[in-house]
Amino acid sequence: MMALDLDPGRAALGNPRLIAAIVAEMDGGAIPFQRFMELALYHPEHGYYRKRGRIGRQGDFLTSPVIHPMFGWAVAGWCREVWERLGRPSPFTIFEPGAGEGHLARAVLDWAEGRDPAFAAVVRYVAIEPNSPGDDPRVSWQAPPVAPADAGVVVANELFDAFPVRLFEGTPRGPVEVYVRWDGERFVEERGPVATIDDAPAEGRFEVNPAAYPAMTSLCGLVERGAVLVFDYGYPQEELWAPWRTQGTLLCFYRHTAHENPYIHVGEQDLTAHVNLSELLAAIDDAGMQAWGPVSQREFLYSIGLPGLVEAARGDLQEYFTRRRALEQLTDGAGLGRIRVIAGTRDIDGTPPGFEPLP
Ligand SMILES: C[S@@+](CC[C@H](N)C(=O)[O-])C[C@H]1O[C@@H](n2cnc3c(N)ncnc32)[C@H](O)[C@@H]1O
Repeated sequence: MMALDLDPGRAALGNPRLIAAIVAEMDGGAIPFQRFMELALYHPEHGYYRKRGRIGRQGDFLTSPVIHPMFGWAVAGWCREVWERLGRPSPFTIFEPGAGEGHLARAVLDWAEGRDPAFAAVVRYVAIEPNSPGDDPRVSWQAPPVAPADAGVVVANELFDAFPVRLFEGTPRGPVEVYVRWDGERFVEERGPVATIDDAPAEGRFEVNPAAYPAMTSLCGLVERGAVLVFDYGYPQEELWAPWRTQGTLLCFYRHTAHENPYIHVGEQDLTAHVNLSELLAAIDDAGMQAWGPVSQREFLYSIGLPGLVEAARGDLQEYFTRRRALEQLTDGAGLGRIRVIAGTRDIDGTPPGFEPLP
């Protein structure tokens, strides 16, 4: 018998080429957690989002557009309502930042073609996806920055919760930033200097998403007249930074298992943090749009009538049960239904669908 040395080395921690690139950038020192997260998700060659197939049953996590086209049909109906209220402008541009492989785009365009040829004829769909874009030929796939349009809707699903975040820990001296270094065998954390952050939690971990406000501002600038519609996991700031939330909201998803260790499966797992909705709503307001929400995805989808799509399939039992199951998943208060929906409108009369006060 000959026992071999079977230690996989860095491969035990994830993609060894990505780990080598991160360790090289660290150059014996430490980098802010935000940079670690940026490299893990978006390293130009080996980052998690550079590869297709990450989202879906075969991947690591599910998003609403991959559950069933019903979600996209609902978004399409919402966009058509905005188009109607604007007086049916032509062209009407739908921008989708973070479009991934295009599940939402496909459902929206199919709905328009199947339902309202006049609407379909004026829709121009621009997917803004810098990583591994899809290939639907009806869609204009672009990397940022993109040119603004006169009239349209900007719709983003789980965009902001995929932005790299700064990680902090509250201490008696004030919040200190979390840095990451390589100890020769694994990634380990160390504490950086004290930072000044308004209203920061006094204890425990919390995240700051520095790109969220500027990104929301530039999304609001994409349409002269129209709306932005954002679906994301998040809370208003007082809830996000509540004293009892001592571990922050950073989560990792690997093959449909959620856990809290970003230093394993590096480059092979999603990293995500909940969004500060107060900041996004302030950006909408500061951009001169009227801000709406947050409402839960469950409230939003019920309010705009998604259950009607389930009832409409009663004649086909298989489709009926598929839609019923999809509705349950999309509105599950312990899952996707927890996602919050916010919107901004400009030059549109009345409350946008889904944001009316509950009776
Ligand atoms: C969690 S995924 C969501 C994908 C898709 N919206 C869905 O719901 O299935 C986040 C997406 O945002 C993209 N992304 C990250 N930063 C971005 C940016 N600054 N501009 C546009 N897309 C971005 C990523 O490449 C990824 O495709």
